[in-house]
Amino acid sequence: MKIIKVKNNEEAGVVAAQIIEQKIQTNPQCVLGLATGSTPISTYQHLIKDYQNQKVSFKDVITYNLDEYQGLLGTHPESYRYFMNGKLFNHIDIKIENTHVPSGTDTKNPAVYDELIQQAGGIDLQLLGIGVNGHIGFNEPGTSFDSLTSVVDLTPSTIQMNARFFASVDLVPTKAVSMGLKTIMQSKQILLLATGANKAEAVAHLVNGEVSPAWPCTILQTHPDVIVIIDQEAGSMLK
Ligand code: PGA
Repeated sequence: MKIIKVKNNEEAGVVAAQIIEQKIQTNPQCVLGLATGSTPISTYQHLIKDYQNQKVSFKDVITYNLDEYQGLLGTHPESYRYFMNGKLFNHIDIKIENTHVPSGTDTKNPAVYDELIQQAGGIDLQLLGIGVNGHIGFNEPGTSFDSLTSVVDLTPSTIQMNARFFASVDLVPTKAVSMGLKTIMQSKQILLLATGANKAEAVAHLVNGEVSPAWPCTILQTHPDVIVIIDQEAGSMLK
C-alpha cells in the first residue's frame, strides 16, 4: 500500500486527477472504476479542467461506478447516475454509452454487473472513497470478502451520514446495489481517497488494522497495488 500525504481535499483532487490521467495516457481505452460522495468531487473538477485545457481526452475510456441507491432512477437528483452525469460525464468527451452505473431499479440479477466488467477486460484503476465505518462502495461492516455486486442494506450510520443530501432522513434509501468486495479486489489498481477528520479512525484501520470484515477497507491490505491519498486530518490517527 502506497500512502501519499497531502494538505487537504483540494490537493488530494490534484494528485488523484494526475494519477487517473497518467493511466489514460498509457491506455486511452482503459476501464476506470468510479466513485460518488463528496470526497472525489475535487478530483472530477480537476479532470474536467484538464480536459478543457486539452491535457486529457476520455473519448475511448470506459467507466463502471461502484454503486447506486436501490429504487432511484438515474433521473432522480440524488441517484448516483445523476451525480456522475452532473459532476463529470456531461463536462468531458466520454461517450455516455461507455459509462456504467448499476441500475437501482432493475435489481433482479445484480451480479450481471461483474460479468460486464469482466467482458470489458476488468477494471484498470478503481477510485474509492471510504465510509467513517470503513465501508468501501456500500459494503458495510460484516460484508463477506467474497461478495460480488449485490443488493445490500445500508447501516443506520450510513443512512444518517447521507441524509445531508436528501430533504429528510426518511427519504434516504435503505438499500443499494453495490460492487462487492471481491469485485473491487479484482481491479488491477486501486486509488483510495480519504480526507477530513471524521475519516481518521477508518484510515487507521485501513493502514494498520487487523484484516477483518468488521472494517471492510482492511481487505485492501491484501491487494498488490493500492495507492491511498490522505490529507492531514484523515491521517491524524496513523502511528
Ligand atoms: P464521502 O463518502 O466521500 O461523501 O465522505 C465516502 C463513502 O461513504 O464511501
